[in-house]
Amino acid sequence: MTLMETPQLLRVGVVGLGWAGETHVKAFLALPNVEVVAAADPRAERLNEVCKTYNIPHSYTDYKELIARDDIDIVSVATPNHLHMPVTVAALESGKHVLCEKPLARSVAEGEAMVKAAIDNRRVLKVAFNHRQRGDVQVLKNYIDQGGLGRVYHAKATWMRRAGIPGMGGWFTTREMAGGGPLIDVGVHVLDMAMFLLNEPEVVAVSAATYAELGPRGRGSRGDRTADGIYEVEDLATAFIRLADGVTLLLEASWAVYGRHNDDFGVSLYGTEGGAEINVQNYVWQDTLRIFTDTGGVPSEIRPQVYRGEGHNAVVREFIGVIRSGDWSNHVGREGLRRAQIIEACYLSAQQGREVALVDVAGHV
Ligand SMILES: NC(=O)c1ccc[n+]([C@@H]2O[C@H](COP(=O)([O-])OP(=O)(O)OC[C@H]3O[C@@H](n4cnc5c(N)ncnc54)[C@H](O)[C@@H]3O)[C@@H](O)[C@H]2O)c1
Repeated sequence: MTLMETPQLLRVGVVGLGWAGETHVKAFLALPNVEVVAAADPRAERLNEVCKTYNIPHSYTDYKELIARDDIDIVSVATPNHLHMPVTVAALESGKHVLCEKPLARSVAEGEAMVKAAIDNRRVLKVAFNHRQRGDVQVLKNYIDQGGLGRVYHAKATWMRRAGIPGMGGWFTTREMAGGGPLIDVGVHVLDMAMFLLNEPEVVAVSAATYAELGPRGRGSRGDRTADGIYEVEDLATAFIRLADGVTLLLEASWAVYGRHNDDFGVSLYGTEGGAEINVQNYVWQDTLRIFTDTGGVPSEIRPQVYRGEGHNAVVREFIGVIRSGDWSNHVGREGLRRAQIIEACYLSAQQGREVALVDVAGHV
């Protein structure tokens, strides 16, 4: 399909109807000339409920039937992580554009297959990194782009939960289905925020460690989720990441740790002209950004009045904008693949107890 052939009305099918899938449905429906015409989920009751709520006419318990429809332009993938690759590749191969939930994939090999499918079939592949659309992140990005921090030489990105394991024994804590624990789940969000704010620097090497101290002993489960069942992934990951030009990034992600956090995430940036900190506690959006500088020769702190930001709505709007622009070749999921490379390098480093160079996990697409 070329630009000329891109239909005015874009028709969407959503695969996977948990929190993420329903959020995609709402974001697509908020846009003009976009219809959600089909949804797929093996949980028939949930499928019916979502289709009824949002007037989605076609429902499938097998996603392959949704992808086989030739009147769909876009497939949104919001399944557990192990299905991101097969659903995305099948959708791209049948000529659909794809919005895939984070993380792009469990591994570099899977991510590469997805990027390659987007290139080969000349379609858009976008990963839903909604947290970079927060108001505080966008305001800070503008400030950095205007030179406000000077040259940023060190950064920290953390997402720490006190007791936030998303259910024991479900797909999140099953290695084969999730691909990892908090690092690949919430760590990827703050990694993306930091990489976005740092302007996508090249990554040279990582040195990481992972721990599984509380989860395997049945501790740290989120209150609303099941607390018994197997726990196969890390519950804390920490990484030291070397970026180009001597810049460094500390990354830390935990679902459960004895500390004062409840559910806190953010980034800190240290530059030659100023510093900045985004500290989000329990998902609040107000009063999260601090900028540190010198005023009249003394240290000072600025508290910008940030706006909330639009999360998935902005992600979906950008995605639709790219499709309508017809300029697809630069939108094939590479950012998601770069995050997958860093995360795979971290897991490899933790497993082998040594620094891992990114070239050792870098892909070929
Ligand atoms: N961007 C964000 O902020 C954000 C937040 C939550 C989750 N996510 C991501 O979204 C994805 C889903 O997470 P969730 O929290 O919604 O999980 P969930 O477990 O609540 O929902 C997943 C849904 O996928 C369905 N599913 C399972 N197998 C399927 C199949 N073969 N075909 C179609 N559907 C299938 C399940 O029945 C379930 O309804 C994950 O990749 C997760 O990392 C992203």
